[in-house]
Amino acid sequence: MVDLSIACGGLELANPVMPASGTFSHELSEVIDFNRLGALVTKTVTPEKRLGNPTPRVSELPDGMLNSIGIPSSGAEHFVREIIPLYARFSVPLVVSISANTPDEFAELSAWVSVPGVAAIEVNISCPNLEDDGRAFAMRPEPTLQVMQNLRSATDLPLWAKLTPNTGDIAAVARAAEAAGADALVVANTILAMSIDIETMRPTLGNVMGGLSGPAVKPITLRMTYQCARAVDIPVIGCGGIASAEDAVEYLLAGARAVQVGTATFVRPGTMDEVIAGIAAYCRRKGFNRVVEMIGALDADMLVPDVMEAAQ
Ligand SMILES: Cc1cc2nc3c(=O)[nH]c(=O)nc-3n(C[C@H](O)[C@H](O)[C@H](O)COP(=O)(O)O)c2cc1C
Repeated sequence: MVDLSIACGGLELANPVMPASGTFSHELSEVIDFNRLGALVTKTVTPEKRLGNPTPRVSELPDGMLNSIGIPSSGAEHFVREIIPLYARFSVPLVVSISANTPDEFAELSAWVSVPGVAAIEVNISCPNLEDDGRAFAMRPEPTLQVMQNLRSATDLPLWAKLTPNTGDIAAVARAAEAAGADALVVANTILAMSIDIETMRPTLGNVMGGLSGPAVKPITLRMTYQCARAVDIPVIGCGGIASAEDAVEYLLAGARAVQVGTATFVRPGTMDEVIAGIAAYCRRKGFNRVVEMIGALDADMLVPDVMEAAQ
């Protein structure tokens, strides 16, 4: 028997596999056994009710999907009263994803959702900061530091900072989140992208631009996970394009302590189960008795330390 248990971001997980926010909800428990997962992660909740973006909100691409859902939310009050209790019957830790428009709103919301039944808060700082011309908090280190510091003083729950790939220096942002007291990083949210229907000559999304996810993003978020894992001491949770155990193993070898599965669950709801079984099979084949032994076990000499040179 391979020991798949892992300590990650203030939690003890039975295994390192969990859903990505927004691609999972309690209704899915009719199809998959939640108690087999490492953790449960909710759709992002915002302080107030929000409708989301104009339609169409999703568009399928050959190797992934574009979405501009825009975080429709029933608001924090409804979420705490109606949604959190729906997860009480499951034995695995519940991680609540939150988003807000300003650092102060983030702090208030974190206090709201710090209720019994919530094990950790995932902070979706890939969203626009209204006090910074709408740039996402996690695009730069300073706003990341500020919002995470605000959150740190507002709740005692473990804080996982979910970073955006839409930044030039993700390692610097990762270090800022760590310095502010984040307990883990999730790397990463979707990549800003667009597509056009050449017959109608219109964007395929009502919002014109949206977030790319699925297999197309994996090499990029894998590289970012590797960079973040080298830059910080807190755990990094890899997220982007994981559709098989082999994909998850790549992330773990690159230094991720856990992984999140998003778009693949839409295609095959049983993907997370397959990933858990496949990680155990890989460990057995490679002689690892515990999954922790393979984390960061990538055999790589950084011959060219400068990342820009590496790309040439
Ligand atoms: C339809 C859809 C909705 C999403 N909603 C959220 C969300 O509410 N909050 C969030 O942090 N990420 C959200 N994401 C991003 C995913 O959690 C994940 O970071 C991203 O899709 C990359 O993983 P994947 O390639 O496995 O899907 C959403 C992604 C999709 C496809």
